Amino acid sequence: MRDRLLQLEQAAIKEIGFVKGKEAVIEVKIKYLGRKGELASLTKELGKLPPEERPIIGELINTIRGRIEEKINSLLTGFIHAESEQRLKTEELDITLPGRYMSLGKRHPITQVMDEVIRIFSGMGFTVAEGPEVETDYYNFEALNIPKDHPARDMQDTFYISDDYLLRTHTSPVQIRVMQTQKPPLRVIAPGKVYRRDSDVTHTPMFHQVEGFMVDDSITFGDLKGVLTSFLHSLFREDISIRFRPSFFPFTEPSAEVDIQCVICNGTGCRVCKGSGWLEILGAGMIHPMVFKAVEYNAEKFSGFAFGLGIERIAMLKFGIDDIRLFFENDIRFLRQF
Ligand code: PHE
Repeated sequence: MRDRLLQLEQAAIKEIGFVKGKEAVIEVKIKYLGRKGELASLTKELGKLPPEERPIIGELINTIRGRIEEKINSLLTGFIHAESEQRLKTEELDITLPGRYMSLGKRHPITQVMDEVIRIFSGMGFTVAEGPEVETDYYNFEALNIPKDHPARDMQDTFYISDDYLLRTHTSPVQIRVMQTQKPPLRVIAPGKVYRRDSDVTHTPMFHQVEGFMVDDSITFGDLKGVLTSFLHSLFREDISIRFRPSFFPFTEPSAEVDIQCVICNGTGCRVCKGSGWLEILGAGMIHPMVFKAVEYNAEKFSGFAFGLGIERIAMLKFGIDDIRLFFENDIRFLRQF
């Protein structure tokens, strides 16, 4: 029995000498020390021995188990250690690497100009209203004193959805919607998208307007001039020249177009202002009595002014952009510049 035990120890130690990895060590451990392992089966034979030998052999079994266990465990720790060393090496972190650049989003240039226009008018006590982009013929034309045969209603200019429905061609219908539901005094701006069948370097089929109007019992053309002059001065430059030119809109009387001194050439004449030194920037006028009639306001009692301006045009002038289509291509290299 003693010899068999010593042989077993030698065999185990020899085998341990050959193993090449963690898994193999575990296999050897099970083979010799496991519950059904070789040492266990020898231990079972203990009972067949004469009683006086049992403690001696028993002790030998324990010593051998201890020795094998020690070898196996130190080998195992070695493998585990080597394994983690290897992992640390391959997963090495270079803490000196620069951090990754997170690109920040920016507001679209059109939104920036829109927000700026709203900010200036809010400062003058105007509130913001909105209306639908799909409008009826009544709100877009009829109520604004644009008769059935007016050229603005032409299929060439307007996107019709049906005989009655269309994509609004301007923000002026919001005037009607607000006046129908609210009573003067009113100071309102209405920003939003508008649609026209037009497309070239200065026109896109969708663009943005801001409508503005003010109604009370004694609003004059002087108020219109004052509000718009103050607005244009804070939007462009405090010292920019402004001029009011007579014009025509069916929903205002008298009507005016407002020009600013060319911001590109400072009024000396260039390609953008076509040599005139002036840039047309908005349309305006005193609200027509027919419009008041449509919303059932007493035109004898109330007066008001209205204006409409195109956001893209202002953005082009402010940022020096010569092709309106750039705003809607959403090329990140273009948008990043603002
Ligand atoms: N609605 C006009 C346009 O789109 C602009 C305008 C608005 C003119 C209000 C006068 C008064 O061209």
